[in-house]
Amino acid sequence: MPANKKLLVLPGDGIGPEVMGEVRRVMDWMAVRRAISFDLTEGLVGGAAIDSTGSPCPDATVAAARRADAVLFGSVGGPKWDKLPFDQRPELGILRLRKDLGLFANLRPAIVLEPLAEAPALRAELVRGLDIMIVRESTGGIYFGEPRGISPNAQGRRVGVDTEVYSEDEIARVARVAFDLARKRRNKVTSVDKANVMQSGRLWRTVVGEVHAADYADVELENMYADNCAMQLASRPRQFDVILGSNLFGDLLSDLAAALTGSLGMLPSATLGGLQPGGKRHALYEPIHGSAPDIAGRGIANPCAQILSFAMLLRHSFGMEEDAKLIETAIERVLASGLRTADIMQPGRARVGTAVMGEAVLRELEKLAA
Ligand code: IPM
Ligand code: MG
Repeated sequence: MPANKKLLVLPGDGIGPEVMGEVRRVMDWMAVRRAISFDLTEGLVGGAAIDSTGSPCPDATVAAARRADAVLFGSVGGPKWDKLPFDQRPELGILRLRKDLGLFANLRPAIVLEPLAEAPALRAELVRGLDIMIVRESTGGIYFGEPRGISPNAQGRRVGVDTEVYSEDEIARVARVAFDLARKRRNKVTSVDKANVMQSGRLWRTVVGEVHAADYADVELENMYADNCAMQLASRPRQFDVILGSNLFGDLLSDLAAALTGSLGMLPSATLGGLQPGGKRHALYEPIHGSAPDIAGRGIANPCAQILSFAMLLRHSFGMEEDAKLIETAIERVLASGLRTADIMQPGRARVGTAVMGEAVLRELEKLAA
């Protein structure tokens, strides 16, 4: 294996650095046991970047992300930076990376692993075996549309404005990602919109239908209003395979889907850009859980989502299916052995912290590789 896989690691804030530390141990293990090494750079993002450079996403971080083959992102934000002006907040770290690198397709799996299906908070009969992939558009829509802002109207009263705007090309390219993924899964895409209310939603539905008819007629396409999708997710989640939605609907529905799995601390995500000339595709991988400031620094955070984000990186950016699978299997075995971090604790299981969980993953990797 060549050693020139360029990786940018951005631990960020809160539990980000702690869980990233466990990924570093997995990387060290891979270097020793599988002779796979990475050309690793670490950078600043979010509150950590604000503290040392004044910006949540310094130019140096964006430049390093452009040079890298893949970015492994931790999480950003925390109470320390809550009072900053709107245009300086830590969340801009991730939003700018998505926008500047053109990372338009955000892939968010919601999977219930068998050892966790009996968690008390879940209705096992509803979610056992759940395996949904949400494809969220992530560089357009109301997150970035203009005009936006707060300004006075003719009566001097403040008016807040955001704009939901989608071009047909933005819709078509993310729809293709969803259809391509569906072909490798259970061959069904549910596209969500509010075509009954919104003009951008009407166009969304039309364009998804055109892409489907032209190139993906073999995939089952279902259109659903976003509010109905929320209800269906909560009541009959296993009907879904791939769910395709705008930036905002994808944001909301992916949190709902994650909650269904009962284990936010287990879920990774990938955000992919288009193919560049030369065959490279920018990509960023991050856990869904965010910075969890309430438990940061206590050594109790679940490192699994960050480690699984690294597995997704191996699969999608480097085509290393075997290594990705190895890591995923190791984590399933750790769970099957009964170890649990606080977020996924079940009666009768052994509660452990971040480092012990990480060590257990290494132990299982060692057994699998033997
Ligand atoms: C997410 C988060 C972000 C978003 C925030 C942190 C800006 O909620 O990745 O889902 O809204 O996209
Ligand atoms: Mg969100």
